[in-house]
Amino acid sequence: MKICSTIPEARAACRDVRASRKRLGLVPTMGALHEGHLSLVRAAKAQCDAVAVSIFVNPTQFGPTEDLSKYPRQFERDCRLLEKESVEILFSPPVEEIYSNSNDQVTWVVVEGLSEKLDGRSRPGHFRGVTTIIAKLFHIVEPEAAFFGQKDAAQLAVIRRMVHELNFPVEIVACPIVREADGLAMSSRNAYLNREERGRALVLQRSLQRAQQEFQAGERIAARLISAAKEVLTREPQVRLDYFEIVDPDTLDPVERISGKTLVAIAASVGSTRLIDNLVLQP
Ligand code: PAJ
Repeated sequence: MKICSTIPEARAACRDVRASRKRLGLVPTMGALHEGHLSLVRAAKAQCDAVAVSIFVNPTQFGPTEDLSKYPRQFERDCRLLEKESVEILFSPPVEEIYSNSNDQVTWVVVEGLSEKLDGRSRPGHFRGVTTIIAKLFHIVEPEAAFFGQKDAAQLAVIRRMVHELNFPVEIVACPIVREADGLAMSSRNAYLNREERGRALVLQRSLQRAQQEFQAGERIAARLISAAKEVLTREPQVRLDYFEIVDPDTLDPVERISGKTLVAIAASVGSTRLIDNLVLQP
């Protein structure tokens, strides 16, 4: 695996790979890798001739009171995991390589509207940071395909819209949510949870499942699915709900009556840890 920490190194390594093989896949991450990230790497390996992974804890997508400084960083371990997956290129730049001075950054990629929905509503500026770093990575790596987790469903919608409207020649591939044995969606932030919080966190998935059960029993009115799910959430009063929404997976606009592919998404804080999860309903 070639490890690159500068943009010129990464450009050269990616160009070499593209010159000798056909399809380069990119898996953007913030590191502290788990099986969810590795599932994207494996999908990229299966669908591409070579794979580049980026590890960059992107400061511009964190709010001023968020967990940037304590975000888990486990570079050596991440390298070993990626070596095992036979990844060709790892791009892991220091912050200064990407943002010469992030307080002075005046050029941003903004997907208007969509960036203020779901997580964007409670995390102002978050998606602007995400789309800006992804646009930068696409310019540096120039992948044919990029792999993202369905776990971050709003992020996926925002990136798809950016790629479409800015004509990036990159295929966006969505990969299913990987869960722990008990159903908790894997996340680098799960490491923040203590034992009690880890138990309480299961209510996110239980609430989604409750909505799904009602749906499978024939309920199509979104408000009723939301009430059923919220009833489950009241059993864990210490879990603070941010949103529980039923939306169109592309526009992220609320749906009243479910008639096509629909996203059911939740965000909630367990202690000081903000977690998200979702599922897709398909009539
Ligand atoms: P990060 O949280 O490290 O996630 C990197 C990728 O892994 C994202 O596409 C995310 O959706 C996917 N992922 C995380 N947990 C997953 C799970 N349990 N199952 C499947 N996929 C999962 O998302 C980011 O980083 C950043 O915002 C980034 C896109 C890298 C931009 O900085």
